[in-house]
Amino acid sequence: MDPAALTQLLSPDGWALLNALPPYDERLTMRIAERLREEGVDAGLVAAALTQSRLRARGRAKFDDFADGMLFTPAGLEQATRLVVGARHGRRYADAGCTHVADLTCGIGGDAMAMSAMGLRVLAAEVDELTAAVATVNMRHFPESQVRHVDAMALDLAAEGVDGVFADPARRTASGRRRHDPAAYTPPLDDVLALREQVPALGVKVGPGIPHAALPEDAEAQWVSVDGDVVEAGLWFGPLAPEGPGRSALVLRGSTATTVRAPGDGVPVADVGPVGAYLHEPDGAVIRSGLVALAAEEVRGRLIDSTIAYVTSDTLATSPVMTSYRVLDVMPFGLKRLRTALRERGVGRLTIKKRGTAVVPEQLRKQLDLRGEGEATIVLTRVAGSQQVIVAEPV
Ligand SMILES: C[S@@+](CC[C@H](N)C(=O)[O-])C[C@H]1O[C@@H](n2cnc3c(N)ncnc32)[C@H](O)[C@@H]1O
Repeated sequence: MDPAALTQLLSPDGWALLNALPPYDERLTMRIAERLREEGVDAGLVAAALTQSRLRARGRAKFDDFADGMLFTPAGLEQATRLVVGARHGRRYADAGCTHVADLTCGIGGDAMAMSAMGLRVLAAEVDELTAAVATVNMRHFPESQVRHVDAMALDLAAEGVDGVFADPARRTASGRRRHDPAAYTPPLDDVLALREQVPALGVKVGPGIPHAALPEDAEAQWVSVDGDVVEAGLWFGPLAPEGPGRSALVLRGSTATTVRAPGDGVPVADVGPVGAYLHEPDGAVIRSGLVALAAEEVRGRLIDSTIAYVTSDTLATSPVMTSYRVLDVMPFGLKRLRTALRERGVGRLTIKKRGTAVVPEQLRKQLDLRGEGEATIVLTRVAGSQQVIVAEPV
């Protein structure tokens, strides 16, 4: 979106047009565009409104119904924090007694909206002019908060009177590629971390791939997943980490939230042992946080291999942070043997999971050439160092 398109959309006619469009349907856009142009609507406005309509439809995944009243840039939507996660960020500040939070990198306003909705007054800074304008529209329901088009690193935080600081540095290059090195974030992670000298209640959203060695010793690092996708790691300092430094995983699945936290004295080392009657696949947030041993303890389980994040147990116990399977068979990996085993079970529909093996699932599926009516899950992995296949069914 260019500034001219935004101006057009924000005119009374433009806004009315956008909000009068039917629910987005790719197949109908050409027809709608033609009709509007025939009615004399400016072609630029038609294009801008249809683009926003498409982004709003996509934005529902992160913002639910709120997306229908928001504006987006493609990059801003891509990078935005989903509302359920932004609300968790906000809760940390509210619980710490903060009332006025600077969001240094507000983007289109995902976090700033969620925090404002929780009653926090937010000073939302954004260095990109168009993105700041979009955030201003999205924040219009929160008059206590303010969006400012500014380089946040030049803000005088003391003069602004903020008692909490949040940052979600940009982790993409101009061409959209992800940056993994925290020094290459904008603003760079170290510059943001230094702000805790001024405002101890600092929170920073970073990429979930951040190496454990790069975690500051005084941070609570929390990996967050939403319905199985790991979406971020958050670094929380001072009063925002009331249980002190360490690592944790927050697993959000549907309406349930489960936290796994390393106890103060460190993470236990998981036992390793033979595949039992059940197999459990830990959530990605638990794996990234390095807390698989804690999840294993919960189901009285052990690892199938010291280097692989699959847990096995002899008795049935489930955990909200693992997906559990009943083990039907375990065999060394071999195409013929696997095909025979699956055909004997009448399996036609196969879910292939793999970890720690080079097998390409789609290639294997073709080679297996299964046609039965039955269903099964196979897990291709290493067990005690050797390539094995576990045939399983979800519990
Ligand atoms: C990952 S996005 C933030 C997304 C936001 N948390 C949300 O939920 O919508 C990072 C944003 O920071 C902005 N940014 C980068 N450096 C900045 C700076 N020094 N001051 C203000 N904004 C900055 C970028 O333009 C980008 O829009």
